[in-house]
Amino acid sequence: MDLGEKRDLDAIQARALQIGASAAYVVDGRVPFLKHFVWPSLQTGAVYEKEYPLATALGRPLIAAQLVQIARQENAQAIAHGCTGKGNDQVRFDVSTAALAPDLQVVAPVREWGMNRDDEIEYARRHAIPVPATVDSPYSTDENLWGRSIEAGILEDPWAEPPAEVFEWTRDPRQAPDQPGYLELSFKQGLPVALDGKALDALELVSRLNALGGEHGVGRIDHLENRLIGIKSREIYEAPAAVLLLQAHQALEDITLPKDVARFKDLVAQQWGQMVYDGLWFSPLRDALYAFVAETQRHVTGEVRLKLFKGSSQVVGRKGPEQLYQLSLATYGKGDSFDQSAAAGFIKLWGQGVRTASQVQGQLHTRDLAVLLGEVKRLTP
Ligand code: ARG
Repeated sequence: MDLGEKRDLDAIQARALQIGASAAYVVDGRVPFLKHFVWPSLQTGAVYEKEYPLATALGRPLIAAQLVQIARQENAQAIAHGCTGKGNDQVRFDVSTAALAPDLQVVAPVREWGMNRDDEIEYARRHAIPVPATVDSPYSTDENLWGRSIEAGILEDPWAEPPAEVFEWTRDPRQAPDQPGYLELSFKQGLPVALDGKALDALELVSRLNALGGEHGVGRIDHLENRLIGIKSREIYEAPAAVLLLQAHQALEDITLPKDVARFKDLVAQQWGQMVYDGLWFSPLRDALYAFVAETQRHVTGEVRLKLFKGSSQVVGRKGPEQLYQLSLATYGKGDSFDQSAAAGFIKLWGQGVRTASQVQGQLHTRDLAVLLGEVKRLTP
């Protein structure tokens, strides 16, 4: 299934038939991946453990769904995958399959036979299965339109700085342009629809942002993460488009979402990120969370300006036709319509609880004050 990893699909299909498959399917999943998995997660603002935009994790449920569909078509009794028994991906494939086709069996030879990488290569050799030359690389990688994941090799030492060779999508910030790049993203109801004023479909937009961000060295992430199965692991990610879009979307929410909605939505985003990471994309709770998220996006429409420079990206402007930021309320200059006289009464009631506590139960923090501040010298002329 092609999720944007730019591999030679014809060769893969031919190889499958050559090693004895009775049929081989090659599916372009790029648009469904963006529309049905990436976009809802972008609207949610979902990031796992504050770092990982979930590229690999979002791809798995779609691949599983496709496998189930083909299994039905072929009247198969089982689905197989090549995941080891140590990672998150086995969970995502197995649980997604359980959710979509509880009767299908899942076969995972690498896990069942306890194989390591060398065993796998040896198995392929013995059965004359051609494996790509990249097995010489010490790294394990996975990629799709939302990002590239790299682990193993020297990266298993969390003290070791990632060597230059692990990066393929992003330039070393030192080699990035010396002039900042600006870009303007337009959103409609929480979804990106245009770049620099030009309407683009999802595929074009994400591909261009990966290229633009990568050029400026934006989107490198070094994450020491908690796997679902109870171990910590270190993964490097390259995700320029994801980083830029999440940042821009957040900036637009900052100016359009009511305070309480924004705060509650943070909790939802955290829960969503965890569920996607933990293989629960297809679940009643994730569905219900999306109903909430979709409702919050009704007014998340407008433009965000980003500045890209030497590995970092910054929001430098945001606006929307239904923004809640109102100059007449915020300004310290002329045209202020804010009613300052109402503040006094509001604050009196806001502070009533602590005032009562202080009066009835003793002044709060009097001891702390002495410890904190000590004696103050009094100067007189
Ligand atoms: N740690 C990431 C996740 O669980 C990526 C997993 C795949 N990584 C890889 N290098 N093959 O979603």
